[in-house]
Amino acid sequence: MHRLIIDCDPGHDDAIALILAHRHADVVGITSVSGNAPLTRTTANALMVTALLGVDTPVVSGAARPLVGEPIHAAAVHGESGLGGVDRIAHQRTTAGDDAVAYLLDVAESDITVVAVGPLTNLAHAIDRDPTWVKRIAGISIMGGSTDVGNATRVAEFNIFADPEAAARVFESGAEITMCGLNLTHQFQTSDALAERLRDADTPKATFAAQIFDYLHDRMETFIGQRASAMHDPCAVLAITHPHLLVTQPRAVAVELAGTLTRGMTVVDQRVGRRRDQANAKVAYRIDAERAWEVVMESLDAGPGSS
Ligand code: RIB
Ligand code: CA
Repeated sequence: MHRLIIDCDPGHDDAIALILAHRHADVVGITSVSGNAPLTRTTANALMVTALLGVDTPVVSGAARPLVGEPIHAAAVHGESGLGGVDRIAHQRTTAGDDAVAYLLDVAESDITVVAVGPLTNLAHAIDRDPTWVKRIAGISIMGGSTDVGNATRVAEFNIFADPEAAARVFESGAEITMCGLNLTHQFQTSDALAERLRDADTPKATFAAQIFDYLHDRMETFIGQRASAMHDPCAVLAITHPHLLVTQPRAVAVELAGTLTRGMTVVDQRVGRRRDQANAKVAYRIDAERAWEVVMESLDAGPGSS
């Protein structure tokens, strides 16, 4: 079973990724970072998911701000709490520490993969403190970036745009990287039918997930008039636990830091028929969404035979 550390900014899709990871991997630890919401909220939300799951996975909080500039959040999508529309679960859990960087460095082992589904600030600090860290872990699976459109800006995806300097550090670090960008995650969409299956399953996990789907659908209906939302972060978990469901290609990826219109863009070398730059990542291009949804729905107690 894969051993994972999940670095996250819960966040609705982060919460689904945490549930999926606990179903299909040995989650050694969770580190939180400022992103969808301030660090205090993302940390509280990560703790709440461990309470929902009844697991003793340690949660260690990390960076409250990016390497450069001020924190940005995504309250319009996730609400001020980071998990809008979801009933709070009462619990007495507390964090196992507040130094995610020291934790990442301490637990590094050759069979541990870090799944990073928020801004990459914690990972960048770890690399700065110990550049050999990336060679002491199996690799890094990132939800972030894009080979085509952005979401935070025309060309930049939120996790990268929230801390471009950190993302650049990670892509330049020599780590074994898998990148699940928006070009991939936009193929993996929720639906009201899936939300209905979750309500029919009527378990704590399924009900929690149904509230997440419903909230995201309400937001997306407001933004783009459709009741569907890309389920971004679970893709970075599937890339490790179910790699046969994705198609990746080796690509050189760099992060734009200076562009007036392009800061935070992942610039992917997709040239064909000519010398491409040396690849530093496996970039995901396709996902078998139907089979991936069956894996995710089963982890939410709503698999094919669950109802
Ligand atoms: O752009 C999508 C990413 O930004 C996801 O990780 C989502 O949780 C938000 O953090
Ligand atoms: Ca996230």
